[in-house]
This record gives sequence, C-alpha cells and structure tokens, in this order.
Amino acid sequence: MQRYPESVQWMDVMAAQDLEMGQIVTVEREEGDVVVFRTASGQTVACDARCPHQWAHLGTAGAVDGEEIVCLSHFWRFDQEGTGSKLSAAGRRDEKSSITTFEVRENEGRLEIAVRD
Ligand code: FES
Repeated sequence: MQRYPESVQWMDVMAAQDLEMGQIVTVEREEGDVVVFRTASGQTVACDARCPHQWAHLGTAGAVDGEEIVCLSHFWRFDQEGTGSKLSAAGRRDEKSSITTFEVRENEGRLEIAVRD
C-alpha cells in the first residue's frame, strides 16, 4: 500500500544529524525555495521560504523560536502546521496568513522533503 500519491517526490536535503536545533537551511527549487528547520524540541519542519506577508525570505530573515519559525521583518510566526500568527506586546496571539508546509522524513540518515511534480 502506497502512502503518498505518485506525484509526490522525495527530495534530498542534507544529513539529518547536521541540522542543529534552531538552524534554518534553504532548499533552492525552480518552483520556489523551501526552508527546513529544527525546532527546540528537535522536530524537523519544512515550509515555503517566502513569508506570505511581504515575501521576506525566511532563509535569511527567519529565526526559530521554540517550535515556530519567525519572520524577522515584521514578526509573523508560523507553527509546524504552517498556521500564521503574530504576538502582541501584551502576549495576545493574532491570526495571520498561513504558509505552505512540506512533509519531512528521515531516510537512511538523510532528510528528505515531499515535493510535487
Ligand atoms: S515579510 Fe514576513 S512578517 Fe512581514
């Protein structure tokens, strides 16, 4: 039984052990860059590199904060499902646009992301 549709391809990213907590790596693709990052708890997450707000590149303008990636341009943040939000100074979490995420797997010590043709 196949878990993924045939149109999904697994793209090699890097050795899994080389992605450190808080590190963000850019995967360049013709269809648009993807960033892969490791959260504070060790989860590996992949999402579009371009912030849906004003298109800042999270590979250069992003930072991992706990379990989320934060766009440092205007501080929108995205969780592991890509849900967007922004924290107010008082700690209120306001909903923002979401970002596309990609499934990540570890295969024989390599990180791979699921991309569509
Ligand atoms: S461009 Fe990312 S928060 Fe504005």
